[in-house]
Amino acid sequence: MKDLLLSMLRPFGPSGSEAPISAAIAERIRPFVDEIKTDALGNLIAVRRGKGGKRVMFSAHMDSIGYIVLDADKEGFLRVSNIGGVNPATAAGRHVVFANGVAGVVYSEPLGSDKPAIGKLFIDVGASSAEEALAKVPLGTMAVVAHQWSEMGDLVAAPFMDDRAACAVLAALLEALGPTDNEVCAVFSTQEEVGLRGARAAAYAVNPDIGVAIDVTPAGGVPKADPPLPVRVGQGPAVKVKDAASISTPLVRDGLVAAAGEAGVPFQYEVLPYGGTDAGAIMSARGGVPSGTLSIPCRYVHSPVETVSLTDMENAVKLLKAYVEKIVR
Ligand code: CO
Ligand code: ZN
Repeated sequence: MKDLLLSMLRPFGPSGSEAPISAAIAERIRPFVDEIKTDALGNLIAVRRGKGGKRVMFSAHMDSIGYIVLDADKEGFLRVSNIGGVNPATAAGRHVVFANGVAGVVYSEPLGSDKPAIGKLFIDVGASSAEEALAKVPLGTMAVVAHQWSEMGDLVAAPFMDDRAACAVLAALLEALGPTDNEVCAVFSTQEEVGLRGARAAAYAVNPDIGVAIDVTPAGGVPKADPPLPVRVGQGPAVKVKDAASISTPLVRDGLVAAAGEAGVPFQYEVLPYGGTDAGAIMSARGGVPSGTLSIPCRYVHSPVETVSLTDMENAVKLLKAYVEKIVR
């Protein structure tokens, strides 16, 4: 699982610029699916055909948070806007890489400010004028934090666990699935971080009987966590009850819990007072789709050190395999 996860963390792919990560995922999953295509929004949709059973759509978003170039000042420092929910408190003092390969560093003004904000961030690409900066990275170019990771026992910390950890789980699920009458539609969705946009379009086209988003969820249990979130890293995948974008359909929520029992893996219930996953878009597609989310507990979500447990990820694969093979009928 570690190697698969790392292969998913490296490729570039902020919202709307997912082609590099999409290509990496397609290459990885191709041997395990019957059909694979990319839609107009860049969603990668892979189908593993069934035999007259239910059509289950899984969605793991490929896009990550990042930056986009707004302007450059006369000294050659770039001003940026955020793509998705970049946390300004953990943004400064990082290496970044742009879509065209240009490297830079992000910092915050005034230097050493204790009131971080996106509007105070700037990116240094070694230019000495606005013209030079914008020649290197034109207006509208996107950037992400440079890949770096730490292994801490069972935990791995890196940028973009949200939601590449789930992309790895979904890829591993396709590989692990045994014979089943149910059709599995694995959607690696785009533009989740800017409003669940890819999954909304994919859910309409796929027209599933059941929808399951796979995403990270903020874990509590870290110093002075507020609000006191119930989920803990390392205590099993989390079955979402509610977030700000969806209240899981009982059929799916209880089915995932039953699958944990079938698979013999631990699970936790998740209640998140904010946030959202692709399930929010899938459940309101067409006439409504029974939907839920299986979450991978993650510390420091939307920071460059998002931290997950490899065991939680492996247990998520086992749970979802049992869900498709034994619970959905
Ligand atoms: Co996110
Ligand atoms: Zn996410």
